[in-house]
Parts: sequence; C-alpha cells; structure tokens
Amino acid sequence: QQSFDIAVIGGDGIGPEVVAEGLKVIDAVGGDVTVRTTEYDLGATRWHRTGETLPDSVLSELRGHDGILLGAIGDPGVPSGVLERGVLLPLRFALDHYVNLRPAKLFPGVTSPLADHVTSKGLDFVVVREGTEGPYTGNGGALRVGTPAEVATEVSVNTRFGIERVVRDAFARAQARPRQHLTLVHKHNVLTHAGHLWRRTVEEVGAEFPDVETAYQHVDAATIFLATDPARFDVIVTDNLFGDIITDIAAAVAGGIGLAASGNINPTRESPSMFEPVHGSAPDIAGQGKADPTAAILSASMLLAHLGLGAQAERVETAVAADLAERGTASRATSQIGDAIAARL
Ligand code: IPM
Ligand code: MN
Repeated sequence: QQSFDIAVIGGDGIGPEVVAEGLKVIDAVGGDVTVRTTEYDLGATRWHRTGETLPDSVLSELRGHDGILLGAIGDPGVPSGVLERGVLLPLRFALDHYVNLRPAKLFPGVTSPLADHVTSKGLDFVVVREGTEGPYTGNGGALRVGTPAEVATEVSVNTRFGIERVVRDAFARAQARPRQHLTLVHKHNVLTHAGHLWRRTVEEVGAEFPDVETAYQHVDAATIFLATDPARFDVIVTDNLFGDIITDIAAAVAGGIGLAASGNINPTRESPSMFEPVHGSAPDIAGQGKADPTAAILSASMLLAHLGLGAQAERVETAVAADLAERGTASRATSQIGDAIAARL
C-alpha cells in the first residue's frame, strides 16, 4: 500500500471546478494507493482578502508534499502580473521546475482544426519548455516612466547550467520515444548570444545520445509547421517564452486548449513537481460548470505517472481517450465529464 500527499491549489476562475474533477478521477483510479490531499488557497481570493500572494509558510508546506495539482492562476480583478509574478512563477522558480512538459497528442475522435491533414499522419509530440529562465526571471526594468524617453527592458537570462539540464532531459525523453527525434526551437539568427549557447549545448549534449536525431527551427518557422504539418515533430526543446507561445498553438492543433495538460517538473525530485492544465482561469465561464475538465484530468494523470504510478496513469489516459472518442459534439457539464471518465475506471 503506497500513500502520497498531494497539495491542491484550485486557484482562480474555473481552476477549482476543473481540479475537483481531476481529484475525482484520482480517487476513482484505485489500486494499492492512498492519496491524501491538502487544499491551499492561493490566487485572487486570498490576495483580495489579505494582500498576500505566496506566503513563505505556504511555500514551505508545499515543499513537504509529493506533488501539487494546480487549477489556474489569474484574475481580471487583480492588476496584470500580480498573481502571475506573485504566485505561479514563484512556485515554478522556488520549486525549480526546470522542465515544463507539455504533450500535444490528438486523441481519436477529437477534431483538429487541421482535420484530415493531421489525422492521417498522426499528431503526437511533446514540448519540453524550459521553466526557470529566459525573459520570465523578471530581470528588467523601466526608466523615465511616463516620459517620451521611457525605456523598458526584459532581459532574457540563459545559463549554461539551466540550458544543459533541460536539454539533457529533452534528449532522454526523445531517446525513450519510438521516433527518437529532437527539434531545438529558437531564433539564433537574431538572438545570437542565447541562440548560440542553446545550439552549442544541444550539439554537445547530443553526443551522449547518438540514437537521437536532431533538427533546428527558428521559432517563427516552427509556428508555420505547427499549424500546417505538426506530425513532423516528436520532441521539441525550447526556452521559456518561445515554449509558452508554441504550446498554445500545439494545444490548438491537438483539439483545443481544453485538452492540454502540463507538468512543471523537477526531475531531481528535490522538490515537488506541479501539474496544471495549460489553459488559464477563463473568468468568463467561471462558476457555470461548463469548463472542460479534461486538461485537468490529464494533468492529474501526468501527476500519477510522476509519482511512479504508471499503470494508473495509463488507465486514466485510456478512460479519457474512450470518453473523447464517444463524446462527439455533445455538450456536458464539467462534473458530468469527470463522472463519465471516473466511471470508466
Ligand atoms: C502558462 C501561462 C503562464 C506562463 C502565465 C499565466 C504566467 O501562460 O502556463 O502557459 O506564461 O507561463
Ligand atoms: Mn501560456
């Protein structure tokens, strides 16, 4: 009998609704597993009530868990950036989630906007987005604000250490997949300093993975292929901001943002990894029970896999696939989708 302690952060908007369905599915998956959950209230509600974003005491409690399931952070009633820079990014940085893993897979029965073009060739790739560096570090500033001479900078931080560890992780993932192919996405013709460091690192780490074939694409060109021929991709490795952008395109072509799951992973296991849908808090539909919880359920499945519960994770994925195949265009409530998937377990 294995037991795990999971921290649950519902967060804002539809976050709590979809996370509840993820937990429902974890409860239903069974096996010799006990999952204890502890809820943490972080996000807009807490900020409005107390002015706090991520108190140190909460962060240190989170560190004691085996994993974290997160709904969404972000609210139009809070100034832009406060919750992103105050809750979500500090979690990713403090827990050193340097692998932001975002699979894109077209399940049978799901319609891609690319329709037949994609379905005939399959679509099954994974983006390994660097999670702790790039322009996300907050290394920047503004001068002479409000004057005609105003200047703003957002410096992209790229360290050899940070690139090497995520690139090695991406190679290992590529090696374990049937196609053994890795594409570096960057923009080395313009971002020459960071671009060359990424390129050199891929070349050098690649020597450890002779079976993996590598390719390179500038990020602008990559968006073309993602929107016209995504079947060419197997594993993509890229920086934090490029990864943010292309994983939204990836989600769109794989059937929509309601299905896209992600893991903020610390492969060293020195701190808990955090799993969350790629979608945001969708305040326009919050509280109406109509958000699609599939991304949250697939994120819960990624959490199970990370805990070493590969068989359980696979069962969840199979149940989701069966539900998607049957779902068609019927519109079901958030909890109905969760119930239907849980019932298949
Ligand atoms: C995501 C989101 C976040 C990001 C925001 C909310 C800070 O867009 O997880 O993709 O940019 O990483
Ligand atoms: Mn994003």
